[in-house]
Amino acid sequence: MRRQPIERVTVRAPAKVNLHLSVGRRRSDGFHDLTTIFHAVGLYDEVDAVHADALTVTVSGEGADSVPTDRDNLAMRAAALLGMETGHEPVVALAIRKGIPVAGGCAGGSADAAAALVACDALWGTGLSRGELLGLAARLGSDVPFSLHGGTALGTGRGERLTPVLGQGSYSWVLALADGGLSTPDVYAELDRQRDSGPVGVVSDASAVLTALRSGDAVALGHVLANDLQAAAIALRPTLRLLLDTGKDLGALGGIVSGSGPTVAFLARNEEHAVGLAAALAGQGVCRSVRRADGPAHGARIVELA
Ligand code: C5P
Repeated sequence: MRRQPIERVTVRAPAKVNLHLSVGRRRSDGFHDLTTIFHAVGLYDEVDAVHADALTVTVSGEGADSVPTDRDNLAMRAAALLGMETGHEPVVALAIRKGIPVAGGCAGGSADAAAALVACDALWGTGLSRGELLGLAARLGSDVPFSLHGGTALGTGRGERLTPVLGQGSYSWVLALADGGLSTPDVYAELDRQRDSGPVGVVSDASAVLTALRSGDAVALGHVLANDLQAAAIALRPTLRLLLDTGKDLGALGGIVSGSGPTVAFLARNEEHAVGLAAALAGQGVCRSVRRADGPAHGARIVELA
């Protein structure tokens, strides 16, 4: 049992890719009903939280310049919400270190929010249950509950209702990072526009992905990756088509735009294959940079307490 007060907490939260993402109708609240399979991968943001006299946030790492440091920052909103709901004055200094691409479709902002919830919860000793934290996460954004949860999970509703997915083994991914981000609302709006202007293909149900995950079959999984937002992301960023084709030509088992993009996730046979695929992709000049990451990864969790 810890007796000293906690002065500083560091939490690490993972990036996600959607192995399956089918987008349903646009709801009256502007969100879309989804069926998705979230998969956390080992690329992380870290958030430090220390006691302070005000609520502040700093951001470092790649793409930090384009992350807001005012009340639009999701980590700051997470701290404010947790404070409001627990009656704790929401004053804390948050320091975010970005390892997840900014505006890349990998839930980087959601990871920061989940990390801030976990960090402030520990720092303030709120004693909230896991379920209560998940409830607050859902109020912050559709992907925030999954950033807290990690692993592999089926998401429904607007993505915030989670059911863990049982699977075997782990998967080696190569993430191709694009120059600049894409706005998630813009990608959903493009999908609506495409659907309004004529029939567009929709991805089938998630069962093929669930079957592949159950047997730990990377080859089968590579074949069935599917994302309804992919065509919309390509329409807004046509170079993604070349990137997807290049990864497949280089031997990826499958490739998919991650969420609303523009990050593309390629599945490799194993770690060795991923090393080769990452090097080959980097040499093609079709993306800004590449990262390797294994999944499933853990959800937001404390890595240091002082
Ligand atoms: O929930 P979150 O803040 O991440 O959503 C960002 C935007 O993405 C929403 O404002 C909406 O435009 C779009 N979105 C959606 N349907 C979802 C999730 C997100 O239309 N299920």
